[in-house]
Amino acid sequence: MADVLIGLQWGDEGKGKITNYLAKDYDIIARFQGGGNAGHTIYTEKQEKLVLHHLPSSVLHQDKIHLLGNGMVIDPEILVNEILNLKDKHNIEFFGNLLISNKAHVTFPIHLIEDEENEKFMKIGTTKKGIGPTYCSKYKRDGIRMGDLVNSSELMAKMSNLMSRKILNFYSFYDKYRNFGDYLAGFTCDTSDYLLKEIKKEKKILLEGANGTMLDIDHGDYPYVTSCNTLAAYAPLGVGIPLTEIKNIIGVFKAYSTRVGAGPFPTELKQTSKEFRILQEKGQEYGATTGRPRRCGWLDLVQLKQAIALNNPTYLVITKIDILRYLSKLKVCKQYSSFGQLQYDKFTVHGEMINDQGFFRYIEKSLGKEIRYVSTGPLNDQIIKLTD
Ligand code: IMP
Repeated sequence: MADVLIGLQWGDEGKGKITNYLAKDYDIIARFQGGGNAGHTIYTEKQEKLVLHHLPSSVLHQDKIHLLGNGMVIDPEILVNEILNLKDKHNIEFFGNLLISNKAHVTFPIHLIEDEENEKFMKIGTTKKGIGPTYCSKYKRDGIRMGDLVNSSELMAKMSNLMSRKILNFYSFYDKYRNFGDYLAGFTCDTSDYLLKEIKKEKKILLEGANGTMLDIDHGDYPYVTSCNTLAAYAPLGVGIPLTEIKNIIGVFKAYSTRVGAGPFPTELKQTSKEFRILQEKGQEYGATTGRPRRCGWLDLVQLKQAIALNNPTYLVITKIDILRYLSKLKVCKQYSSFGQLQYDKFTVHGEMINDQGFFRYIEKSLGKEIRYVSTGPLNDQIIKLTD
C-alpha cells in the first residue's frame, strides 16, 4: 500500500516539512519525479535548516528506507554533495537504507549547458539544473541511466556519444562521473523490484512529489512548466508499482500563492505593495534551490479547485498559516474576470476568523475537501491536526 503526497500549487507549498512530519507512519519514503530543481526545506530537532534536492524529505528518520525512483532525473554531483553534507554536518549516514533506481536518468554537464542556452531563446525561468534537457535525452532514448553511471564499461561508450553533441571534452568529464558512479554504486539497484517485494510484506510507502501540480508538463500552464508529470497519477509509474496499490493522496497547499519563474499568476500582488512585502519577508519566499525571490499572491481557489479535480486528494494540508497573522486583511480569489466583466468576489477575513477556524471551514467548503492538518511554522512539531 502506498500514499502519495503532492503540492497543489506551483511548488514550494511546504511539502518537505509535511513529508518529514508524516514519515514516522511509513516504512519507505520515495521520490518519484523531478530532480535537482526541487528544494525541500526541513528542520532537525536542533532546529538546523536542511535543504534537500534529490533525497526524500524523510532522511532525518534513520530507521526508514529512503528511495529515489525511476521517474527522477539525478545530478550525481548535487546528490553526492547532499549525502556528504548530511554526514559532515548532521551526522546522518546511510547503511543500506538509501536506494537509487538504476532506471533514473542522469543529468550531465551537457544538460546544464543546454538548459542555460534554451533560456536565452525562451524565458521559462527554469532553475537551470538541466531538468528539461535530461528528460529530453530520456525521451530521445540517448539518455544515460543510473545503471550505466555505476557501470564503467557502459559509461565510457554512452558518455562519449552524448557529449559529442556539444563537442565537449569528454575526457575532462569522464573521470569525474566515473567517480560519482563508483560512490553511488552501492546505493543503486532495481528499486521497482524492491518495492514490489516490500508491498507483498505489507510495508507502508509514502511517495513524495516535487515541484507542484501547476508545473505538470501536461496539465500545468504550458510552456511555463517543468519537464515531467507532477500529478499524483504519475507516482506509481515514477517508482514502478501498480496504480492499484495507491490508497491515499495527500494534497499540500500554502495559505497564499507563490510562483518562481515566468508564467501566468492571476492573484499576483504588485511587488511594491505592502502585502507582497509582508508575504515575501515573513514567509521567506526565496527559492530554496536558486535563491530567487518568489512572486507572491493571494490564495487562488479557482486554481486549487483545478488541482483538486486533477489529483482528487483524500485530505488536504494547509501550510504557512502563521504568516497570515502579519496581514490586517486577507483576500481569497473565488473567480476570474473575463473581458472586463468583473465576476470575482473578494473574500475578506480578519485575524480572529483565522483563529476560530472560519477561514479553514470556508476553504474546505469551497474546495469540497477536508483540511486535516494545519502547519503553523517551519519546525516539525509546529503542526495541528484539525480534527483534534
Ligand atoms: P525547471 O524544472 O528547472 O525546468 O523549471 C521549470 C519551471 O518550474 C520554472 O518556472 C521553475 O521556477 C519551476 N520549478 C521547478 N522546480 C520547482 C520547485 O521545486 N519549486 C518551485 N518552482 C519550481
